Amino acid sequence: MSAEDGWSAVAAAWSATWGAAAAPAHAALLDTADVGPGTRLLDVGCGSGELLRLAAERGALAAGCDPAPGMLALARQAAPESDLRDAGAEDLPWPDGAFDVVTAVNALAFADDEDRALAELRRVLAPGGRVALANWAEHAANDLDAIEAAVAQADGEDPAPDSPERLRGGLEALLAAHGFAVQDAGTVDVPWLAADDAALVAGVLLGEDASVLRELGPVVVAAAAPFRTPDGGYRLRNRFRWAVAATPS
Ligand SMILES: C[S@@+](CC[C@H](N)C(=O)[O-])C[C@H]1O[C@@H](n2cnc3c(N)ncnc32)[C@H](O)[C@@H]1O
Repeated sequence: MSAEDGWSAVAAAWSATWGAAAAPAHAALLDTADVGPGTRLLDVGCGSGELLRLAAERGALAAGCDPAPGMLALARQAAPESDLRDAGAEDLPWPDGAFDVVTAVNALAFADDEDRALAELRRVLAPGGRVALANWAEHAANDLDAIEAAVAQADGEDPAPDSPERLRGGLEALLAAHGFAVQDAGTVDVPWLAADDAALVAGVLLGEDASVLRELGPVVVAAAAPFRTPDGGYRLRNRFRWAVAATPS
């Protein structure tokens, strides 16, 4: 199964479980990049279209792309007025200088060639345009990662180390290395709520088959005990890092 097929296979479940979780990061990016009426915006790796919906509500002329057809189908429902195209970040099907703002939220990490992806983001921006990126902050800032570390341990694996972009200054360094002038950066809380054990396990082990859910579900529930709420649900304190930078005008 290709990576695109993998995302398509989980698109509906991902959208229902995680699609809204990044909303505070979407708002932070659109606020900082001054997205408003008439802004020509491209969201790269748009997933099920939540950022595009928000941009359209602000009056932006929104476009989006994603290489997973299942995700794109959901984005078409969420943001029907957007120009949506089947493409990955490495090969954007728009001409040079077509956009005022290009966003990518938790998407560039999936590109096979991140350097090429960033060059493409820069190419489609108009002079003085802005790129706005966001991704998960370091493991220590995320309750979700504590649960995933317990799952990895149960599987006999070591948790993956933090990638540079997750650490303070990492996104800024990446953008500067690709010729952008960083304007602002920060973190934003993106809490995630699960109504009960079943929702918790389904969200954390998204896309896994029934035998994995049976084996690792109890590991997830045990690791999430500190995050349990009095009503029997869960509240995970998670965080994204973001940065906004400009192209030379
Ligand atoms: C975790 S979701 C994030 C969706 C959305 N950006 C958001 O704000 O929540 C990752 C998305 O990246 C997409 N993706 C995978 N490979 C990609 C690539 N090479 N370029 C751009 N997006 C890619 C996936 O199909 C998926 O929709």
